[in-house]
Amino acid sequence: MELSSDRTVAKTGETESPMKLIEISAGYWLPRALHVVADLQVADVLDDEPRSAAFLADKVGADADSLDRLLRLVASHGVFDRRDDKYVHNVLSRALRADHPQSMRAYVQLVGLPVFWQSWGALEQVVRTGKPAVDDIFGYFKAHPQELETFDAGMRSKAQSAIPPVVAAYDFSVFRAIADIGGGQGHLVEAILRSSEQTRGILFDQPHVIERVKLDESIAHRLSAQGGDFFRGPLPRCDGYLLMEVLHDWTDAHSTQILQQIRQAAPDSAKLLVIETVLPDENAWANGKGNHFGNHIDINMMVLTGGRERTPAEFERLFSASGWSLSRLIPTYSPYSIVEATARS
Ligand SMILES: C[S@@+](CC[C@H](N)C(=O)[O-])C[C@H]1O[C@@H](n2cnc3c(N)ncnc32)[C@H](O)[C@@H]1O
Repeated sequence: MELSSDRTVAKTGETESPMKLIEISAGYWLPRALHVVADLQVADVLDDEPRSAAFLADKVGADADSLDRLLRLVASHGVFDRRDDKYVHNVLSRALRADHPQSMRAYVQLVGLPVFWQSWGALEQVVRTGKPAVDDIFGYFKAHPQELETFDAGMRSKAQSAIPPVVAAYDFSVFRAIADIGGGQGHLVEAILRSSEQTRGILFDQPHVIERVKLDESIAHRLSAQGGDFFRGPLPRCDGYLLMEVLHDWTDAHSTQILQQIRQAAPDSAKLLVIETVLPDENAWANGKGNHFGNHIDINMMVLTGGRERTPAEFERLFSASGWSLSRLIPTYSPYSIVEATARS
């Protein structure tokens, strides 16, 4: 039964609503199936021939009937095509291969990690207490190097689709030097330096993260990496700063500390670019535009980090508490926006 397209039951508002609740409440079955398909690396063993589930199960070490049923579910949502009891690749299933240029396999695996999955299982407790399910997610990854690898790779996967719209939406060549604070493996600052040939860059992250960074050699003469703690500083002095999906990891109090540290290091002419989803404000809700992927990320942050996604007014409050002023809100052709702030003297 395909709930959403069953026109006979979806015709009236009265019958549609209960069916929609079934669909939403059972929604996690599908993503869980996708995590397991990614973990089993099914897409990697499927070549250009149509293959049976038995063939694939043998390659990945799974039960043929169970794998067939799993693949049938994900194929019914467009991941792999199913023809004559066999599976063939399509655009989405190819992007689950590790060797795909825009591979999303690591991101799917990251979201399926036990620490994510089990933390979401504790959602009721999180909502009752207002405390995240994990005490210190970055400490957790530091203590679990294999999962840290999945985290790094997942962030790189995300970057493949998130960064091109960001680079296209802003003229980064106005900066002489730009620091990517909490920049992870450096994929954002590298993409910016590739598009702005006169700009220099500094990647700043925790020391154990910086130790693992492999910088793109073609721009290595313009890019350096520095390990440290963005709560304590000192941070590099640049005329541009990037914070991509960093503030959303933290409470308002912690975010204010990070922003104050950057302000202390920054010259008075500096600009700060926060790259995150921006939550719809009440005007957007009133215009029927409340449905945004940011609402999903917001709950993930609540569960895992105690952080949050923010509305424009919430960003403005953070900035005014830390020596910055919101100057522009720049949407991109992705769920991410660029929130530009200017240093206040
Ligand atoms: C969600 S990741 C975002 C990475 C990258 N900006 C991106 O968008 O892919 C948050 C980053 O903040 C870094 N981080 C966490 N605590 C930090 C600290 N105290 N000092 C410096 N970096 C920190 C993490 O190591 C991680 O790379």
